[in-house]
Amino acid sequence: MRYSRVIGTGAYLPERVLTNADLERMIDTSDEWIVARTGVRKRHIAADGESTCDLAERAARLAIEAAGVAVSDLDLIVLATTTPDRIFPSTACLLQGRLGMCRGAAFDIQAVCTGFIYALDVADKFIKCGTAQRALVVGAETFSRIIDWTDRSTCVLFGDGAGAVVIEASEEPGVLSSHLHSDGRFEHLLHVPAGVSQGFKHLANGEAYVKMQGAEVFKAAVKALDRIVDEALEANNLRPGDIDWLVPHQANARIIVATAKKLRLPLSRVVMTVDEHANTSAASVPLALDTAVRDGRIKRGETLLLEAFGGGFTWGATLLKY
Ligand code: ACO
Repeated sequence: MRYSRVIGTGAYLPERVLTNADLERMIDTSDEWIVARTGVRKRHIAADGESTCDLAERAARLAIEAAGVAVSDLDLIVLATTTPDRIFPSTACLLQGRLGMCRGAAFDIQAVCTGFIYALDVADKFIKCGTAQRALVVGAETFSRIIDWTDRSTCVLFGDGAGAVVIEASEEPGVLSSHLHSDGRFEHLLHVPAGVSQGFKHLANGEAYVKMQGAEVFKAAVKALDRIVDEALEANNLRPGDIDWLVPHQANARIIVATAKKLRLPLSRVVMTVDEHANTSAASVPLALDTAVRDGRIKRGETLLLEAFGGGFTWGATLLKY
């Protein structure tokens, strides 16, 4: 059987840090409220002129180095982002050019916070069916650019960053299964009203920013993730106790704790980085994965459950042997 296996991870956070104390000086909020409701303590913000592709390149180079492969060994880039550098070319193609990779295919995926799970599934399928041998999968965002920094109900939640993995074809089990879902009926609960095809008419009304009905999104996320955990376990004939690590989307510590409870996993087996970088949308799962791989918590052969929920609504999970 042909699998795809993760052979290297990388991540990058911009230098500039915005703490909860900094936000206290900008809007009517408090460190106490932010920590209690979300678990976030700080977020990283891209510098002026620093783009999603800049962050993606830093994470990608680290993942390629960790994998011990050359850029010329890659034949696919799938990059998940909600905040591309330009309308076109895709950020994946921009990254391909930066890396000097001149073969294979490169394209973007848009599934907001679930983007990395979608991208990993697509790349895994390219490898499983033999179309690709070795793929770079990236989640990268400059989410700060679509945040209204005067809206306390959203601005405390998000940050910028990038994470990447290299996966390659292997006879050894790697990605065991992926489970993707979406339900477009809920677009109004979490969206950015402005858009290309609408002629950017909303830009003038200051609506080029994330709008979210947080409490509704919270409830939907907990429910969807609860169901998808069962779906992933059942598909692989596994029990909750078979999972070594939960590597969740880093949106809110309370959502992560609810999913860990469902899995009956102690928090010591949950990778939690939301305090360090807030919700970085498509970057958050690979950022968390890279953190726990590099600090030695996640070891070869362990079983990981990756999951995410985001705008669309979209949600998904990947079960893999690391
Ligand atoms: N500081 C202080 N008070 C605040 C702040 C703030 N930053 N923001 C809101 N409040 C106030 C509200 O005004 C409200 O006050 P009121 O009771 O006087 O009306 C009170 O706090 C409670 O507000 P809620 O919105 O009900 O707070 P809640 O407990 O739901 O927490 C939060 C809000 C953190 C946004 C939560 O709902 C959440 O995490 N939602 C899910 C986010 C998520 O997972 N998104 C999915 C991925 S994102 C993507 O795909 C782009």
